[in-house]
Amino acid sequence: MFTATAKNQGYLISGLLIGLMFMISGAAFALDNGLAKTPPMGWNSWNKFGCDVSEKLIKEMADAMVVSGMKDAGYVYIVIDDCWQVKRNSAGKIEADAARFPSGMKVLADYIHSKGLKFGLYSDAGTATCQGRPGSHGHEETDAMTYAEWGVDYLKYDWCHAENLKQQEAYAAMRDALAHSGREIVFSMCEWGTSQPWLWAGSVANLWRTTGDIQDCWDCQGGWGGMGWTLILDRQVGLEKYAGPGHWNDPDMLEVGNGGMTFTEYKSHFSFWSLLESPLMAGNDIRSMNPEIKEILTNKEIISLNQDALGIQGNKIRDDGDFEVWSKPLSDGSKAVILFNRSAQKSEMKVSWEELGFAKNKSVVVRDLWLHRDLGNFASGFSASVEPHGVIALKVKQ
Ligand code: GLA
Repeated sequence: MFTATAKNQGYLISGLLIGLMFMISGAAFALDNGLAKTPPMGWNSWNKFGCDVSEKLIKEMADAMVVSGMKDAGYVYIVIDDCWQVKRNSAGKIEADAARFPSGMKVLADYIHSKGLKFGLYSDAGTATCQGRPGSHGHEETDAMTYAEWGVDYLKYDWCHAENLKQQEAYAAMRDALAHSGREIVFSMCEWGTSQPWLWAGSVANLWRTTGDIQDCWDCQGGWGGMGWTLILDRQVGLEKYAGPGHWNDPDMLEVGNGGMTFTEYKSHFSFWSLLESPLMAGNDIRSMNPEIKEILTNKEIISLNQDALGIQGNKIRDDGDFEVWSKPLSDGSKAVILFNRSAQKSEMKVSWEELGFAKNKSVVVRDLWLHRDLGNFASGFSASVEPHGVIALKVKQ
């Protein structure tokens, strides 16, 4: 009897020890950093400025984020993409370009934080970044500690010069390093969808890129896998089931306001990025936006689809060639609907309440999110004329 009890206690103790080990090493099995419960919103330097980044530019962007009303609309992260870093010191610590960032990253982070905003940086899982600056491979722990010391809140982590690495291992190494850093840092993976990260990265990162780089155009195809936003949109079909609070598909940063598209096309691009639960990272010069571009980026009714607490990524519910209907459920019981006209002609489009799953014989209240107007009650569906390359974005409730 005594022996049996001692044996049981032995089992109990070893069971508790195993449980404790799992708790301690839990970071290796699931990302639980509590961040990005809704898609991150902010600004990133790459699409407009490339390598031409500096302390002056970044401070001006932080100022503009507040003055333009973007902060008020929900944008919070100011992210410096590639080219801020130049070398490592003798201890292996990464150093910012002293000519372009003379006050150093900590002072810049403090400035951004003093505006009520958050600070993001970029690195790469390989030996060098895409622009040939030092990468983090083999320096993950040191770099994460450095970011934490500087006050970094967001890390975009790229995939250049990583030929001999495996995505799962390389990204998990930085995830674990960030977890050890003692600071809450949103982790944004950028391996361009090469390893189908939606299948495995939910336990590794808060967001992961799904394609090559966005280009500021409707449907062009650039070199090195870059593409216009409608081609990216087509590659999001079917990925909706992998997104949710804390772990998002990332179809890349916004091109709104960079000059390559019409006002109508930018409205469509922004409407879709919102519906897709994409991070809303502006990529234009927010110091000098014209009123139309500002109106797009700060449309709170469109943004509310993206920041809805349910965090369900929208999906395509009908595809009639050039005419598509997309939808997503919202936490107040309503649905967002986008009628999308890809054709070059103004066209009449329709959505029926039946295809949205609403009960028959009960009318639906319709609101237009670009006109900011309630359109009334509609019996069986809604139809409207949609601009070429345009959308009508609606909130509908039964
Ligand atoms: C890759 C990324 C881009 C950008 C550049 C910087 O192409 O996909 O978003 O970060 O590198 O060099």
